Amino acid sequence: MGRAKKAVLAYSGGVDTSVCIPYLKQEWGVEEVITFAADLGQGDELEPIRQKALDSGASQSIVGDLIEPFITEFAFPAIRANALYEGRYPLSTALARPLIARRLVEVAREVGADAVAHGCTGKGNDQVRFDVAIGSLAPDLKVLAPAREWGMSREQTIAYGERCGIPAPVSKKSPYSIDLNLLGRSIEAGSLEDPDVEPPEEIYALTRSVEAAPDSAQIVEIGFAQGNPVSIDGVALDPVSLIRRANELAGLHGFGRLDMVENRVVGIKSREIYETPGLLLLIKAHQELESLTLAADVQRYKRQIEASWADLVYQGLWYGPLKEALDGFLDRTQASVNGTVRVKLHKGNATVIGRRSTADSLYVPDMATYGAEDRFDHKAAEGFIYVWGLPTRLWAASRRGR
Ligand code: ARG
Repeated sequence: MGRAKKAVLAYSGGVDTSVCIPYLKQEWGVEEVITFAADLGQGDELEPIRQKALDSGASQSIVGDLIEPFITEFAFPAIRANALYEGRYPLSTALARPLIARRLVEVAREVGADAVAHGCTGKGNDQVRFDVAIGSLAPDLKVLAPAREWGMSREQTIAYGERCGIPAPVSKKSPYSIDLNLLGRSIEAGSLEDPDVEPPEEIYALTRSVEAAPDSAQIVEIGFAQGNPVSIDGVALDPVSLIRRANELAGLHGFGRLDMVENRVVGIKSREIYETPGLLLLIKAHQELESLTLAADVQRYKRQIEASWADLVYQGLWYGPLKEALDGFLDRTQASVNGTVRVKLHKGNATVIGRRSTADSLYVPDMATYGAEDRFDHKAAEGFIYVWGLPTRLWAASRRGR
């Protein structure tokens, strides 16, 4: 692999990605580094970040608003898929990577770059997601990952930066490693590395503790159209506003925290804390609406598809063939997922208390009822059970004959 001339670097404004700029130029002979910082609704002020890249030696510093496609093209499909990695993590970080990769490639084309760069380390999932996505979208672009190779400790990285005029982090450095976007936060490192240590309250920013949550419960009503959340409490909201509102409501009531040990792609287990209040609330409500509107066999089969979908998103295979094929199945199932779910938020819990669908409910009252309107043919059950249980009875009889 020859030297890259012009690289587009995924930029966050932190020490590591800032040090990548002089490092790429000085150690790897890259002539020009152009940074791209994505706005994913993390709430950072982006102008200082844009300026910091220039101060660190970038020839051009680009900021791009990706919030809307992040929600419509990545978060909503995840809600429709009820996507929970290892049954728990709603992929708040993982979902952002293929979008950032896509935009990096577009910027590389716009500025005529021959490489794309990122600051991921060699033991995380994000490097896998970036490299695989970029490799499939733009096989001709080189992917540079200096932090995977430089072997510098945190202190050495800061010192290297200071020699290049990059100021050390001013505020008393947080011991945690945090990734943040509109879907939530992930918090790692520091005292959290011991999986037996309780997370301190200070790490949370989007959710209240159960203790600090309001004493009175709040009921929220979430409306869905074709599997996408479209309204809260009867008010139609655009996708981005809807996620913000769901975050506020669930976060206020202390719902949406997750403390888990997860299996990374690179084979290690890591202890991760997440707070993803809105996303978890919406997935829970969506699952519930599906229980009313999907046929039993589709619903059961979909669970397996959901688990596979979550795995491949986690593992960086967003742009792969299995993802495309599973999306075909998922899209087809969502046409009838229309209706409303009522959830009671209280002291860390989100409890579904009602669900309805005018056009698509498969719940048939005069089939379900034990009242006088019952239309179910009770006598027909006898013949059904005779056939249903036949293999089991034959098997049991043969055993008794031994
Ligand atoms: N373990 C989570 C994931 O793989 C969170 C990763 C957070 N990334 C980060 N660079 N801090 O999705």
